[in-house]
Amino acid sequence: MSTTGKKHLITSALPYANGPLHIGHIAGAYLPADIYVRYLKLTGEDAVFICGSDEHGAAITMRALKEGTTPQEIVDKYHAQISKTFEEFGIDFDFYHRTSGEDHHKTAQEFFQVLNEKNTFEKREKEQFFDVAHQQFLADRYIKGTCPKCGHSEAYGDQCEKCGSSLNPSELIDPVSVLSGKTPELRKTTHWFLPMQKHEKWLRDWVKEGTLNGKTHHNPATWRNQVIGQCLSWIDGGLGPRAMTRDLNWGVPVPVKDAEGKVLYVWMDAPIGYISATKAWAQSGGKNYMDYWSGENAELTHFIAKDNIVFHCIIFPILLKEHGSFNLPVNVPANEFLNLEGDKISTSREWAVWLHEYLKDFPGKQDELRYVLTSISPESRDSEFTWKDYQARVNNELVAILGNFVNRALVLTHKYFEGKVPEPGKQEPIDLELQEEILRINQKPGKLILQHRYREALKEVMKIARAGNKYLADTEPWKVFKTNPERVKTLLNNAIQVAGQLSLLSEPFLPHTAKKLRAFLNLTGVNWDLTQNFELIVSGQPIEKPALLFEKITDEQVENQVKQLNAKKQQKQKEQEMKAMPDVNFEDFTKMDLRVVEIIDAEAVPKAKKLLKLTVDTGAEKRTVVSGIAKHYKPESVIGQKAVYLANLKPKSIFGIESHGMLLMAEGSEGELSFMSPEKPSVAAGDKIA
Ligand code: MF3
Ligand code: ZN
Repeated sequence: MSTTGKKHLITSALPYANGPLHIGHIAGAYLPADIYVRYLKLTGEDAVFICGSDEHGAAITMRALKEGTTPQEIVDKYHAQISKTFEEFGIDFDFYHRTSGEDHHKTAQEFFQVLNEKNTFEKREKEQFFDVAHQQFLADRYIKGTCPKCGHSEAYGDQCEKCGSSLNPSELIDPVSVLSGKTPELRKTTHWFLPMQKHEKWLRDWVKEGTLNGKTHHNPATWRNQVIGQCLSWIDGGLGPRAMTRDLNWGVPVPVKDAEGKVLYVWMDAPIGYISATKAWAQSGGKNYMDYWSGENAELTHFIAKDNIVFHCIIFPILLKEHGSFNLPVNVPANEFLNLEGDKISTSREWAVWLHEYLKDFPGKQDELRYVLTSISPESRDSEFTWKDYQARVNNELVAILGNFVNRALVLTHKYFEGKVPEPGKQEPIDLELQEEILRINQKPGKLILQHRYREALKEVMKIARAGNKYLADTEPWKVFKTNPERVKTLLNNAIQVAGQLSLLSEPFLPHTAKKLRAFLNLTGVNWDLTQNFELIVSGQPIEKPALLFEKITDEQVENQVKQLNAKKQQKQKEQEMKAMPDVNFEDFTKMDLRVVEIIDAEAVPKAKKLLKLTVDTGAEKRTVVSGIAKHYKPESVIGQKAVYLANLKPKSIFGIESHGMLLMAEGSEGELSFMSPEKPSVAAGDKIA
């Protein structure tokens, strides 16, 4: 096996330890990286795949505040959950670290100190909101107020979740502290700023030309257009100074004098997590971590989603270059976003497919999801996951093509040749064509993976399975066997070789399936170079009785998923609606005269499709009320119905009818209306509701 002699360091964005992982995370920064690393390792390359939990920052402290617990408890809980999910799903990190550990703190502090001594930072005063009651400066997320753009009353200091605008805390109308609920004061505070404007020139050359310090650093043609585009638009828009420290009591303490109560900005802390994770990995295996971070042979690749481009292509590179001991990334193959069932994935709106729930609902079906997420990987534009599409891809591709081919090849070998790979005879033109085709296609996936084109790479693998299926369909060994069993030996030998090819080629994408397949074939020694030969499995070798590689996903399964998704979203909506309702004091409540009434007459209102004119018995008198229930009830069906009624609503003329009071109806999630009638027959018209 010839290798490049490179030392590959592959990182995936450190996920915040403040919630579970969803399919958007996986499709963005983890699955492509995992495929890349598995491929490198299969080709004998020296590759290290590291990641860890990002356990600092305001997102974590806010979560702790909301749940009434400590940040440490939050990160402990989610770090455990996230690492378990990655493992179960088959994201095969060499090391999964965390940033709240002492070793990371030390590494981040040393890094900061090196830069501080080189005068990379500018110390400056700025004005920031301060919560007097809590004696604390407020991070942007800790300030709420009215959005100046859309008027939403619950906008955060950094962003309005209603209209999506990015904000500064000082732009909010009537800002209040989330901690005390009081109006915060502006006070002066000192921070260490990174003057990014000083780095514009070399950054532009690095991003655009791939040069660094006057030398070629990487080939910019290997970078994704949208990554280069986003960086250049930032640089061309002008970079400014950015604070690298924060006033917060959770994070890595700023390791210099006069910095009490200050921690490193999370973006000056989390990416250094890549370094501390590499260190921890190297220590556990007797390696030197700097071999992977510096020198001509070390090659750093960051896998992220597009919302992290500026941090990995501008801010962190500035920090790395200023430090001087570390390489800059040779590529940052950022993915666009994955949407879900026609809408953006959103944690706050509970619009997401959570990975740990998927693994519970579809046990053993990691590769099915890996397959679908790779097939729709948002490499060059946003893409969309739907459960219908998931079902179609599993059933029509994994089951009908890959699974079906492997199954036929193995079952026929058992049927005709007692489960031993038959010796081939003379290869006919159709056999030679198959062999050529396989050897032509099977060289493509690897090349495409190295170009970070995972969707296409997977398609090529499926072409091998398609070619195998077509070969069996064209040669029909089950028919030929009756007249020419010798010929079938050649046919099935070829088919088994194709299955062997698939067991190697599918490994980076579908590692669980590949492993099963190799076990069926008794194929050991996984090495990508083998794909240069057509024949991987020697004649006479016994193979196992196959089990099905994939099962069909039923309509019921996907319908259930969609139902669950909608139910969660609705629950979240209700939660938010209720939170948004103002408090009512008891006096206001007692002003409402709520009573039971009985409907004693009903008729349609001419020209008003939604309205019925009802006569109700209030126990004291008969009244007319116009009610918007005509779409749900026919007039004759409501006579005799008891209902809840607001008696003292001001009378109003509707379609020329004077309407007194209002019937109260329950409204279901589909807009269906329903009476709320008393449970006991003894409750009569005029009885009070209190
Ligand atoms: N936790 C951050 C996020 O999820 C990403 C951190 S990437 C790292 O957006 F570079 F900081 F590690
Ligand atoms: Zn807004």
